[in-house]
Amino acid sequence: MGYQIPRGTQDILPGTVEKWQFVEEKAREICSRYNYKEIRTPIFEHTELFLRSVGDTTDIVQKEMYTFTDRGDRSLTLRPEGTASTVRAYVENKLFGLAQQPTKLYYIGPMFRYERPQAGRYRQFVQFGIEAMGSDDPSIDAEVMALAIDVYKELGLKSLRLVLNTLGDKESRKAHREALVAHFEPRIGEFCHDCQNRLQTNPLRILDCKKDRDHELMKTAPSIHDYLNEESREYFETVKSTLTAMGIEYVIDPKLVRGLDYYNHTAFEIISDAEGFGAITTLSGGGRYNGLAEEVGGPATPGIGFAMSLERLLLALDAEGVKLPIEDSLDCYLITMGDQAKEKAPSLLYRFRKAGLKADKDYLDKKMKAQFKAADRTNAKFVAVLGDDELANGVISVKDMESGEQTEVALDQVTEYILKQI
Ligand code: HAM
Repeated sequence: MGYQIPRGTQDILPGTVEKWQFVEEKAREICSRYNYKEIRTPIFEHTELFLRSVGDTTDIVQKEMYTFTDRGDRSLTLRPEGTASTVRAYVENKLFGLAQQPTKLYYIGPMFRYERPQAGRYRQFVQFGIEAMGSDDPSIDAEVMALAIDVYKELGLKSLRLVLNTLGDKESRKAHREALVAHFEPRIGEFCHDCQNRLQTNPLRILDCKKDRDHELMKTAPSIHDYLNEESREYFETVKSTLTAMGIEYVIDPKLVRGLDYYNHTAFEIISDAEGFGAITTLSGGGRYNGLAEEVGGPATPGIGFAMSLERLLLALDAEGVKLPIEDSLDCYLITMGDQAKEKAPSLLYRFRKAGLKADKDYLDKKMKAQFKAADRTNAKFVAVLGDDELANGVISVKDMESGEQTEVALDQVTEYILKQI
């Protein structure tokens, strides 16, 4: 019996991997336009980091982490998201001390959550995310959302919806929390087991419960918008007016709460409205986390960011029928006839490649016709055919596969000839 891939993971094979490379490249290009620099952090961290940041009452921490004890008896966890690690690295490496602030970072890498796999939900998935730390100017909130939208739009997605909310500051949240407890407590017995636990630990999360979504108390639950203090309200107004001035459309959803504890003020998600996208329609999520750096032992630092999985991005591109302009072809395929020509092939091919040509040849001792077939499969722009006779005369024939035109070229000039043609 062979081995099977673990549930909720994927092999990304040639033919598909080019799409990944294309979207990663696009994300990097847009980050560089917005002046975000890449950060690479470890795949695993001390478990405590996620308890403190993501929050020990969240689903991620309670149900979804891949946690293990290493041989030194330390509890480590495969990162379920990128914000905690980025903020940890920001604090640990004292990036707050650098002259250029805010610190604007991005990452692309695998994250791990033990969730029930389905289309768009995996146990290992790749997040592209950005984090901007050191500024609480509302224009950076708008910048973060603009960057996320740009990635989708520039790749060709159209059916997008930016859903925006504010969670307010600490004071507003506290008032809202008390109102939520008072609202749900008398009838909490009618709610699911998780919600009963959430009532005291994290009542905001009740609003996000899938099981109790249709309970009548959900519709009448107090909205954060009724508990915002002046400062939080003003902050939100400026975020909205900045987006409007930038021409970025959004809808407000006062019920949008995020699944991680570190958020305050701005929270947002980008949803796909593409038909046939499936049950999970959230493409990305993010928000502001002004207390997080302090929480992990650093100086008080405002921060905001978002993350998207590339899996969901690629699903959305499929759902909208977007074809990425991926070019997958060789410049030249070398075909040989006869023993001497075959012996010459490796050094000639090496010359092609050193000159920068994408080139290949047969390695299976195929007949001429089969070599032509193989050349076709690589979409080669040119096929160079070398026979023993040509070799003896110091020439090689080069066929332009698009026009079908065949030219005899001096063997020591063939690299330059092909380079000139492409
Ligand atoms: P999140 O909402 O947990 O936020 O995840 C962000 C995005 O990661 C989701 O919108 C989705 O695209 C993707 N994602 C999450 N779980 C899975 C999964 N099991 N399979 C496939 N894709 C998944 C965060 O992770 C925050 N760290 C975002 C953030 C950055 N907030 C501020 N900065």
